[in-house]
Amino acid sequence: MKIIFATQNKGKANEVKAIFTNTPIEIISLYDLGNNIDIEEHGSTFSENAFIKAKAVYEIYKEPVLADDSGLSIDQLNGRPGVYSARYAGENCTYEDNNLKVIDELKEFPEPHKAKFISCAVFYYDKNKIEVFGELHGRIIMDQRGTNGFGYDPIFIPDGYDKTISEFEFEEKNKISHRAKSFNVLKEKLLDFYFG
Ligand code: IMP
Repeated sequence: MKIIFATQNKGKANEVKAIFTNTPIEIISLYDLGNNIDIEEHGSTFSENAFIKAKAVYEIYKEPVLADDSGLSIDQLNGRPGVYSARYAGENCTYEDNNLKVIDELKEFPEPHKAKFISCAVFYYDKNKIEVFGELHGRIIMDQRGTNGFGYDPIFIPDGYDKTISEFEFEEKNKISHRAKSFNVLKEKLLDFYFG
């Protein structure tokens, strides 16, 4: 069976597709569908935004939908960039613009710059809703390292490691990430929902 994943972010889509390999569920992203719908994420929490995306896509296709709203929360910045993670440095900014803005804002604070990634993963199919959270704790460093991954990966070192997520291999990130945690639980719930 197929489930639409309400994202145009190829990095996210690849991570979630890998989690569902070896299951009867095939993940099709908006990117795969060639749908570049612009969904306004006006919620104030990850959960609200995840359901806004899922519902918007459900209204178009009337098919079961997965969505994820995720971001970075930095202790010394009172949880910012939080739900503003994607456009922290402004509309149409690059990942690098966001990383440089975070580094600049942290200059006045002592190390370590504790932070966590949060993922809220949801399933939406008319009256059926499931919501799961995943977190990855670590710290922000003041330079960008590595070339893999996306977003804030080059400036984030997970607890227990001495390299940024951008220096992780894809499979390695997909074992420990916030999104791996939320979607692995959601996967089990969906397998139970459809085939249990
Ligand atoms: P969303 O697509 O609205 O959920 O925005 C998520 C934003 O949070 C991304 O554009 C990234 O800036 C950041 N983000 C979420 N997950 C990750 C990750 O796994 N690595 C790095 N940055 C992430």
